[in-house]
Amino acid sequence: MNDPARFRNDAVARLRDAVPGPAIVAASGGIDSTVAAVLAHEALGDRSHPLLVDTGLLRAGEVAAVEATFRTLGVPLTVVPAADRFLGALDGVTDPEEKRRRIGRTFIRVFEEEADRRGTDRLVQGTIAPDWIESGGALRDTIKTHHNVGGVPTDSRLTLVEPLRDLYKDEVRALAELLRVPEAHRQPFPGPGLAVRVNGPVTAERVAIARTANAIVEEEVDRAIAAGTLPRPWQYFAVLLPVRAVGVTGDNRVFGEAVVVRVVDSVDAMTATAVAVPPELLRGVAERITRSLAGRVTRVLFDVTDKPPATIEWE
Ligand code: XMP
Repeated sequence: MNDPARFRNDAVARLRDAVPGPAIVAASGGIDSTVAAVLAHEALGDRSHPLLVDTGLLRAGEVAAVEATFRTLGVPLTVVPAADRFLGALDGVTDPEEKRRRIGRTFIRVFEEEADRRGTDRLVQGTIAPDWIESGGALRDTIKTHHNVGGVPTDSRLTLVEPLRDLYKDEVRALAELLRVPEAHRQPFPGPGLAVRVNGPVTAERVAIARTANAIVEEEVDRAIAAGTLPRPWQYFAVLLPVRAVGVTGDNRVFGEAVVVRVVDSVDAMTATAVAVPPELLRGVAERITRSLAGRVTRVLFDVTDKPPATIEWE
């Protein structure tokens, strides 16, 4: 994409061709799906129905933040509450791929119901090139097998429409700036949400721990960015491990869990390097996490591994 304005015009024309009636749009609040939603709104107007599925796996304050973004953009957004459904689907599952499959299936079932209600089979999704490249050659046509919706089940009657399919992240960001999408430099957040940041069983309580720890990492890193002590990293977040370690609170010994802090730089998420975060920032994060989650989190660790050999998320 050399020229974002030209891409926008072409994408709007392609969307009109691909969608004869109404369409639902999978919105997550991320840059990719927000750009896709703006383009769909431009192309289809009232026929476009952006949906934010509240999986119960979103970050602190995320639903309200996404609603505010869409209000600013003048694009209508419907929030579909589905936390119990997602947690139910994940009950007792620890295998990361199985988690993704169940999340993907639940997303698709929710989207199918919402599409039915609107008399359509078209689902607009903000898939970008690294999503399908990383999903592997044989699966390329099923899209996002391990990204976002885990692949559309073969019995689904939804037809995917993917206006950003050939773009890379920096190109989507250029488009986001053109479309005045706020926070065009917002960090990526995976479609399966905090489920890929909760190693081991995904329970409401463990998701809540990961959510609190994530919010603290984001706040402290954002503060350092604002103060000019850290250049904006590509991604910064916390992961809850299924590892227990003894700690002390006051006079009591407690058996809590461990949280990993991950801060990486990248240009396209295909490779990444661990950022050398100032030690005092890390100490502040550890202090806040163990204080806010006293008794539940007794260790805060820092991940110094690049991708490859690691991935960015822990799963
Ligand atoms: P990994 O962990 O594979 O992640 O190195 C590469 C980038 O992709 C993000 N990610 C996802 N994004 N849906 C998404 O939209 C997903 O299922 C998903 N899984 C990982 C991850 O945050 C990183 O930016």
